[in-house]
Amino acid sequence: MVYQRIVRRALFRTGGGDAEVAHERTLRMTARLGTAAPLVSGLRRYFGGGSPRTVFGVRFPGPVGLAAGMDKDGRALRAWPAFGFGFVEVGTVTWHAQPGNPRPRLFRLPASEAVINRMGFNNGGAEALAARLHALGPLAVPLGVSIGKSKVTHADDTADVVDDYRSSLDVLAPYADYFAVNVSSPNTPGLRGLQDKAALDTLLGALSTTVPLLVKIAPDLTESAIADVLEVCSAHGVAGLIATNTTLSREGVAAADAATAEQTGGLSGRPLTARALDVVTFVAKETGGALPIIGVGGIHTVDDALRMLDAGASLVQLYTGFVYRGPGLVRAINRSTQAR
Ligand SMILES: Cc1cc2nc3c(=O)[nH]c(=O)nc-3n(C[C@H](O)[C@H](O)[C@H](O)COP(=O)(O)O)c2cc1C
Repeated sequence: MVYQRIVRRALFRTGGGDAEVAHERTLRMTARLGTAAPLVSGLRRYFGGGSPRTVFGVRFPGPVGLAAGMDKDGRALRAWPAFGFGFVEVGTVTWHAQPGNPRPRLFRLPASEAVINRMGFNNGGAEALAARLHALGPLAVPLGVSIGKSKVTHADDTADVVDDYRSSLDVLAPYADYFAVNVSSPNTPGLRGLQDKAALDTLLGALSTTVPLLVKIAPDLTESAIADVLEVCSAHGVAGLIATNTTLSREGVAAADAATAEQTGGLSGRPLTARALDVVTFVAKETGGALPIIGVGGIHTVDDALRMLDAGASLVQLYTGFVYRGPGLVRAINRSTQAR
């Protein structure tokens, strides 16, 4: 409540209401918090403490992670555990540093507790992230690294696409506890086509690493397309699935947000809750629970998180729910998993 009444209100006003300016300021403040180790430990004792678990061979101190896109370049890695996160996924990074799409490209839909973004993988590149991670040394919680295709690499040139992902993978492998192969962001032309059976088969066949490799899928795939993805993932020994990314659908957006809903980009937050849960449920059933799942999409309450875990997710991640509900949500989910 304190978060929603005071902190969120202040954050949303920052930058004259420009969501990306607010995001950048928050990230800078969070990074600063990370330099105060005793404060981080104290906050972590308060917000953390979820039930630990080992998934795809990695020990997670808690089940709630920070989803990809919040800290693309890993600028605040020392700080995220302070808010109770048991793991952090950085990225998506690409092999070539790139500015992303022109601004504005991030929009809040407050009546729907949602966000639309068309950031377009703005990031400093895989080598810069590797250098930052090298300088940071060991982290308090496991690190996922999300990798995607550079914009300059044409989606229909398979060999180049494979090289692009593979270069990022090679340079970041020493620092990642798992990789997320992002083939599901809607803001890079041709990227989601990599979820097609043949393209995914080629890509996964070329990515060889000892680090667990997970595939992140879109919520807009049909069940038969998801079944195809699962078949390819199983053929290549993929360690798990991350479900889901943002959606192109505008279903569930409140009337008060109708004008903003016309913005191009991926929708996240409350309108995504039911669909992401459906996808997790389908994947768990289809694989008989054999493939670890990270459930993400529209988790804004403890019940949302518990439903994901009950549906078969081993871990959950938050982005938009964290923006609207703050670290209290992470704490509440952590506590509720302790009791189970
Ligand atoms: C501003 C923004 C940027 C994002 N960037 C990425 C990204 O770079 N890579 C990725 O895999 N997902 C990205 N996502 C998707 C989230 O990781 C998450 O899958 C999605 O937002 C659904 O979860 P949520 O409803 O909790 O936000 C981004 C989401 C937002 C809102």
